[in-house]
Amino acid sequence: MATYQVGYMIGSLARGSLNRKLALALIKLAPPGLEFREIPIRDLPLYSYDYDKDFPEPARALKQAIAGVDAVLIVTPEYNRSIPGALKNAIDWASRPYGSNSFARKPSAVIGASPGKIGTAIAQQHLRGVLGYCNSPQMNAPEAYIQAGKGLLDDLGNVSDESTKQFLAGFMAAYKAFLDMVVPCVTSARN
Ligand code: FNR
Repeated sequence: MATYQVGYMIGSLARGSLNRKLALALIKLAPPGLEFREIPIRDLPLYSYDYDKDFPEPARALKQAIAGVDAVLIVTPEYNRSIPGALKNAIDWASRPYGSNSFARKPSAVIGASPGKIGTAIAQQHLRGVLGYCNSPQMNAPEAYIQAGKGLLDDLGNVSDESTKQFLAGFMAAYKAFLDMVVPCVTSARN
């Protein structure tokens, strides 16, 4: 059985981030064959193409981290019905300099949680557009818009509601199946 290295990016910088809790839950519920490491975005300055000739250390580290994984999983909140600025900034860094786009042919999936009823649906749609432009093959289905009321997710990655837990486990099983299909294709395209 193939094992894939998955880099997960959390779209929130908040200490008590709901989406960090969701990421922990997803890791706990993932099937065998997926290994996880965080790709941090906290220390990135705001991107400008003035940096393109000489990226600062946090941006180099970001690009190396993405290069070192088979796939990316983005777990994000929705801020003002769109992608949080810190996450968009990280993607802008990763996509540059021109001709060195870290997301090109890097498989991805998106998921997010919010206390709100539509569970980050609009942010995820915007994010899918950005990842599409960056030429990242994305898992199209299942979509996962998690409405997380108080107590659904704890700091250890436990999920209090059994049907949500089953749904998240199914999402990760689908992600593994997606990677089984796509990673060999992108690997042979790169070689
Ligand atoms: C929010 N929140 C929010 N929720 C939502 O469902 N849709 C939205 O558009 C917004 N907009 C928004 C803007 C800003 C600036 C903040 C700080 C918050 C609420 C948000 O879902 C909630 O704070 C979550 O806890 C954010 O996830 P993290 O950051 O805790 O992972």
